Amino acid sequence: MTIATTELPCAVRGHMEARNVAIRFTSNGKSVSAVHGVSFHVKPGEFVSLIGPSGCGKSSLLNVAAGFVQPSSGEFLLDGARVERPGADRGVVFQQYSLFPWMTVRKNVEFGLKIQGVSPRERETRARTLLGLAGLLQFENHYPDQLSGGMKQRVGIVRALSTSPQVLLMDEPFGALDSQTRIVMQEILTNMWQRLRISVLFITHDIDEAIFLSDRIYVMTAHPGRIKAEIVVPLPRPRTPEMTSSPEFSALVHSIKALIREESLAAMGGELQQGGLAGLSTEVGPQGIAEVIQ
Ligand SMILES: Nc1ncnc2c1ncn2[C@@H]1O[C@H](COP(=O)(O)OP(=O)(O)O)[C@@H](O)[C@H]1O
Ligand SMILES: [Mg+2]
Repeated sequence: MTIATTELPCAVRGHMEARNVAIRFTSNGKSVSAVHGVSFHVKPGEFVSLIGPSGCGKSSLLNVAAGFVQPSSGEFLLDGARVERPGADRGVVFQQYSLFPWMTVRKNVEFGLKIQGVSPRERETRARTLLGLAGLLQFENHYPDQLSGGMKQRVGIVRALSTSPQVLLMDEPFGALDSQTRIVMQEILTNMWQRLRISVLFITHDIDEAIFLSDRIYVMTAHPGRIKAEIVVPLPRPRTPEMTSSPEFSALVHSIKALIREESLAAMGGELQQGGLAGLSTEVGPQGIAEVIQ
């Protein structure tokens, strides 16, 4: 299927479903539970984020969706079929740019199509169409080390989309970028997603990013991760940067922050409870620290 700007596909596929997924790893001879009893879904064409404290199992879940990791119980389904291995129906973007440094931008984007045996002319058409959507056409003959971090990650997204996957799986894709670039990348991604109507499972620990991009957000508990809350983002599309200063946006930030804060405290261990944080504001006073510790 060719993705052309004049003939964009309508999302009828790309339904993801995690059913009671548990993931266990063996570490130093001990079995450790990464996530437990996780169920969620992404409807065709929907943009859904998973958000939660570090170590709660977000990447592990994405790896299950990608087919890199098998759940120890439960199952992950894509369009009703159990995911058991990686496949061209899923595009994956990680935080680290994984472009081939010896290939130009366009050759990087064409790589997956070449593996699939797509003809050179067709490869070029698809790559140039997607590069155009990402505002990168004028850089098609550049090499990755000639690009900024934001541009490299845009090429990574375009490359993941080149084989027309049903779903895009993104694991903190903008985590290595500075905050200004990150905001621009969010706008580019939401624009591309709106045109392509692909299903996206997006992982982040940035609350504003999750709200700006998503139709729905699943908030996870601390390790071992479970789904703590499901939040529908009622903001209209297309999303614009102005929306981030609206009262609706602020209310969502506030409620998700409260949910995450509870979990981050739990993730940091029992000793850092509310009382422990209050202790950080102890006045040392004129006698200095001796007064506090005696
Ligand atoms: N390959 C692995 N072997 C052992 N433990 C792992 C492995 N991958 C992840 N873990 C553990 O599983 C938990 C969840 O990790 P991860 O999915 O990376 O969390 P997150 O992406 O939310 O930060 C962590 O405790 C982590 O140490
Ligand atoms: Mg992670």
